[in-house]
Amino acid sequence: MSLFPENTPEDIGVETFAQTISDWHHKEGRHNLPWQGSQDPYRIWLSEIMLQQTQVATVTNYYHRFLKRFPTLADLAQASQSDVLAYWAGLGYYARARNLHRCAQTIMSKWGGRFPETPEEIETLPGIGRSTAAAIAAFSFGARAPILDGNVKRVFTRFFGVFGYPGTKAVETKLWSIAQSILDHGPAHLDMASYTQGLMDMGATRCTRAKPNCNACPLAHACYANRNNAQQTLPTPKPRKAIPQRECHMLVLVHENKVLLEKRPQNGIWGGLWCLPQFNDYNAFETKCRNWGVTPSKANQMAPFQHVFTHFKLQITPWWITMNKLPLAEPSGQLCWQSLNELAETGLPAPVQKILQGVNKSLVTNQSR
Ligand code: ADE
Repeated sequence: MSLFPENTPEDIGVETFAQTISDWHHKEGRHNLPWQGSQDPYRIWLSEIMLQQTQVATVTNYYHRFLKRFPTLADLAQASQSDVLAYWAGLGYYARARNLHRCAQTIMSKWGGRFPETPEEIETLPGIGRSTAAAIAAFSFGARAPILDGNVKRVFTRFFGVFGYPGTKAVETKLWSIAQSILDHGPAHLDMASYTQGLMDMGATRCTRAKPNCNACPLAHACYANRNNAQQTLPTPKPRKAIPQRECHMLVLVHENKVLLEKRPQNGIWGGLWCLPQFNDYNAFETKCRNWGVTPSKANQMAPFQHVFTHFKLQITPWWITMNKLPLAEPSGQLCWQSLNELAETGLPAPVQKILQGVNKSLVTNQSR
């Protein structure tokens, strides 16, 4: 069975697909991303992990700041988890940061501080899947291994006319076999870094989700979606399912310009990050307040707002209570009083930052409440 859709023009055969992408990348792809121009696997690995589920524009500042604080793999391995999370705070998907840290420690202890070089070895590390392992190996060591991230899935489903939601096992398997087959039939001296980056750039800058720029695509004349006007139906969207709605209450307990923070358990959302004390329902919130000698009233309630995660929406109701005397005896290991002036150095999830920025702002304008 041919890999290519029926009637594909002969100048785009399975032998030339990869070379076309690589040539296009040399001419029109991105070459000035902060992690380019280096073959240091530490830097490349860091960028690939940050770029999972996060856009280049968001990653750039975090990337520079992170490298300044942890310039080498050994620096990262030696750091505390809280320190690493503080430099990740705001990027989301915090399991990435915890795995990054564990991964650095594994490379120090099991690989003698040397980053493994083959995609198969790299994939054994915590938090690194097949596509990320291949990208790291291609950029750092020129390995000939296929990638398949979200952008690449879009390019392949459109070009090859692959129907069915790419999140299903069957479609994903088909896409992996296409990805592998392109490399099996491609030129012997393919520039793997350029081909790999070119595929990503094609997805990010030409074959975009909503408005693909087919006029500026070197594969357009052979592309199934372009030839059949199917850019809007491919990739096949995920079958719709209502996103569950959850609610929680967060306590903003302020005493002398300090706020009470609680460390989240390692598993679950925001694992290991400092957060405001959080409760799944009002009763749990009120009971804890009473245990701590605090009585919430309606006047303490701040405006509720919604935070959207991949799998659910969280309605957050913050409660701001200012205490004149310390409501708690010594805080335990999971609780701490943090100065409101030093929040920037603490790893806080985005919605918590948002609440505390509001508190800080009104303390500055209003001094007391
Ligand atoms: N997303 C994942 N990896 C990337 C890379 N190397 N460049 C741009 N976007 C990416």
